[in-house]
Amino acid sequence: MQLLIKTSPATQTEADAFAFLAFETENEHPRADSTPSEQNGWLAELRTSGEFTGKLYETAVLHRPTGLAAKRLVVIGAGKAAKFSTVELRRIAGTLVRSLKGKGVRSIGLLLEGDFASAEYVLAAAEGAVVGGWEPDKYKSDPKKDSAEAKSIDSFTVVVPAAANSSLAAALERGRIIAESQNFARDLVNEPANKLTPAALAEAARRMAAEEGLECEVLDREEMTRLGMGSLLGVAMGSAEPPFLIVLKYKPAQPKSADQLALVGKGVTFDTGGVSIKPSDGMEKMKYDMAGAGAVLGAMRALAQLKPPIAVTAYVPTVENMVSDRAQRPGDIVTAMSGKTIEVLNTDAEGRLILADALTYANRNGATHIVDAATLTGAIGIALGHYNIGAFTNNQDLLNRFMAAAASAGEKTWQLPMDEEYKEYLKCSFADLPNIGSGRSAGSITAAWFLREFADPTPWVHLDIAATAWLDDGKSWISKGPSGVAVRSFVDLALNWT
Ligand code: BES
Ligand code: ZN
Ligand code: ZN
Repeated sequence: MQLLIKTSPATQTEADAFAFLAFETENEHPRADSTPSEQNGWLAELRTSGEFTGKLYETAVLHRPTGLAAKRLVVIGAGKAAKFSTVELRRIAGTLVRSLKGKGVRSIGLLLEGDFASAEYVLAAAEGAVVGGWEPDKYKSDPKKDSAEAKSIDSFTVVVPAAANSSLAAALERGRIIAESQNFARDLVNEPANKLTPAALAEAARRMAAEEGLECEVLDREEMTRLGMGSLLGVAMGSAEPPFLIVLKYKPAQPKSADQLALVGKGVTFDTGGVSIKPSDGMEKMKYDMAGAGAVLGAMRALAQLKPPIAVTAYVPTVENMVSDRAQRPGDIVTAMSGKTIEVLNTDAEGRLILADALTYANRNGATHIVDAATLTGAIGIALGHYNIGAFTNNQDLLNRFMAAAASAGEKTWQLPMDEEYKEYLKCSFADLPNIGSGRSAGSITAAWFLREFADPTPWVHLDIAATAWLDDGKSWISKGPSGVAVRSFVDLALNWT
């Protein structure tokens, strides 16, 4: 999809569909001189008939509008003016793309006026349109009926008043890069585990790094053995697919500080649970157990193009958690790279085992700040549902900075506690640490505490994205399947590093 920005009068915008926003209350209509005033009567009639109320994401379409160059005029509900933000606009852009594609519309114009003709709103519109254009139908074979090609929107044009300032084109471009990188993450997560093995994930990272000019190093089993990564290697034992640790480096030409931000992503390409096997119902979804890896790689792709002022290194441990006669057993004791011993009480708590060694490796390689993303626990969905990323930290200042980045990127995040008391759940008689907490309490917090044992003392934030990285149902603005969550927050954090 091509993204364009134009300042021509709205009436002259050529598009298959030209859209403008309308709030729930009539006099809150965000209109300015360029609004298609010929259609005032049409909008008033829609409102009195009840066909259009201005509720969020509601649309009405008028064909062959008089006085406009566009083939269709679309009014889209913007909800309550007082509650309107970039979050709603991002979703409105996505809703336009998703509701109009496949209906003969290939080009869309969206009018942004007044306060909305600003960099942050243009960025959000660009992101929403590109994210809305993505479909999880890569492996469907009938292109006429269902494919993305047949349904896709060719161009999305943001129309702003002629007086708007020149930074809007840069905002549009930034939005495109970020959203295409979010879709890059979604493409990886969407791949089934027979296609996306750890080796294939490493190859995808290598290819992306070469295209974007990032340094890339992939550690294989031999090197990881030499480094003593017993915790990661234990998880890989059950699979014929070899494990890897992918390392990507972005280095700024003129660094603003000596800080080294590490992004760490869980890359379990399939999680059967191992010997502590998962129930078969829904197990197919465990191909998304590498969504943390996808988010980190997506963020690196965007950062390579947007060039933040600090060094960012990605660490992506990737394994397949399988059952076999070679698989790790409950009760096995492994020694992590840090020297700590771990009793593997449950082979399904494998994410923290691979992350432990990746965190140690990040620390040994000079990370000054670490943020990890992992589909770590089912319990995070019990605590927060599907709407918030669960966030944990050993450093409140870093988490505050991350939460600010997430808020500006439009990704909801909620902090969970990490009081010392929770460590009581991680007592172990046979090794330094068990890989699960005792009992069923606070499963996401005990998992975070386990990670913290390997992140300390470096300032660190852990994101549990198990309940937010996959959408069971599509929304009007985004398809079902991989969400690409955390990419935008990572990018915002690095770009606005202070
Ligand atoms: N990959 C899962 C977590 C998960 C669950 C992700 C549901 C996405 C959706 C993780 O490896 C896991 O199995 N965690 C266990 C931990 C338990 C054994 C302490 C869980 O959440 O049940
Ligand atoms: Zn698991
Ligand atoms: Zn897992």
